[in-house]
Amino acid sequence: MKVLVTGGAGYVGSVSVEAILAAGHDVVVLDDLSTGHRAAVPDGARLDVGTYADGRVLGRLLEREEVDAILHCAARSLVGESGVDPGKYYRDNVAGGVALLEAARSAGVGRLVFSSSAAVYGVPETTPIPEDAPAQPINTYGETKRTFESAMAAYGQAYGLRSVSLRYFNVAGATERLGEDHEPETHLIPNVLGAIAGTSPALTLFGDDYPTPDGTCIRDYIDVADLADAHLRALEATDPADARTDEPLVCNLGSGGGFSVREVIEAAEKVVGMPVPHTIGPRRAGDPAILVADIARADAVLGWRPERSNLEGMIVSAWEWRRRHPAGYED
Ligand code: UFG
Repeated sequence: MKVLVTGGAGYVGSVSVEAILAAGHDVVVLDDLSTGHRAAVPDGARLDVGTYADGRVLGRLLEREEVDAILHCAARSLVGESGVDPGKYYRDNVAGGVALLEAARSAGVGRLVFSSSAAVYGVPETTPIPEDAPAQPINTYGETKRTFESAMAAYGQAYGLRSVSLRYFNVAGATERLGEDHEPETHLIPNVLGAIAGTSPALTLFGDDYPTPDGTCIRDYIDVADLADAHLRALEATDPADARTDEPLVCNLGSGGGFSVREVIEAAEKVVGMPVPHTIGPRRAGDPAILVADIARADAVLGWRPERSNLEGMIVSAWEWRRRHPAGYED
């Protein structure tokens, strides 16, 4: 199979490319390098620098490369920014996504796997959260992910598009060669490690008065390599002969368990053997107290289990990658 990976120079995209190549498939990466890194594109994948939102260019690429399936990882993904610059999110995540759907339809590419997010659930009513929980996002980022999921489902009904939406919880860790290098960095584990290394300011812990055992938010951390494995399985499930995607498929990707912010800090202190300089700040707007995935469906339908997602292991791999790349990727 030949796969186009949008955002294949980003964190999740590049690790997914690595997994798809390792399984013996061909990969073309389309990335505008606005947040991704040229050096993150694995050897063996061809990089085309450009945007998926330009339907004509994308259509030509799909036809020229004879692409069989698309993995759509590219997106704007900062929750805070989505609140102050919603146009960017609707333009790139929704309008750009529809341009991608149209280009795929014109080029006859009927298989699509999409990077969705736990942000579609908003503040969940039950925990762990099953996929059929109401999608009630509380920020523009989550709203744009939900909207694109709906568009994919409509293209399934109208044109037979076979699709899988993967709703990620909190992705962490690194592979031997590929890790997390965001600017700005908003995620907990890289900020914890940056605070220890002194490459970023002391950590601000956003709120210790949540209704959780230690007062800090609980999240479900999933190893990026496990996540990549799920992408490969999802792509294979979009084969036209595979009944699993006769209807649009939606799967949570998490570990099924949760850790509080304090537990993450303690685990990092244990792994690195140094304290995490931190202060307690106010709550960050839009943070639900607890987000933990029900992962039964990914197991039942994709045969996927999070084999590597233990907290200390993810911190170890992230710390090792950071030590090898103290300033991130060369570019
Ligand atoms: N946190 C801090 N200090 C920091 C960074 C994070 O205390 O410097 C806390 C947050 O308040 C939260 C937890 O650590 O309680 C995890 O925060 P992250 O920013 O690492 O991750 P989120 O849970 O906010 O975000 C993840 C995904 C988003 C997605 C969201 C769904 O990264 O893409 O889940 O709610 F939108």
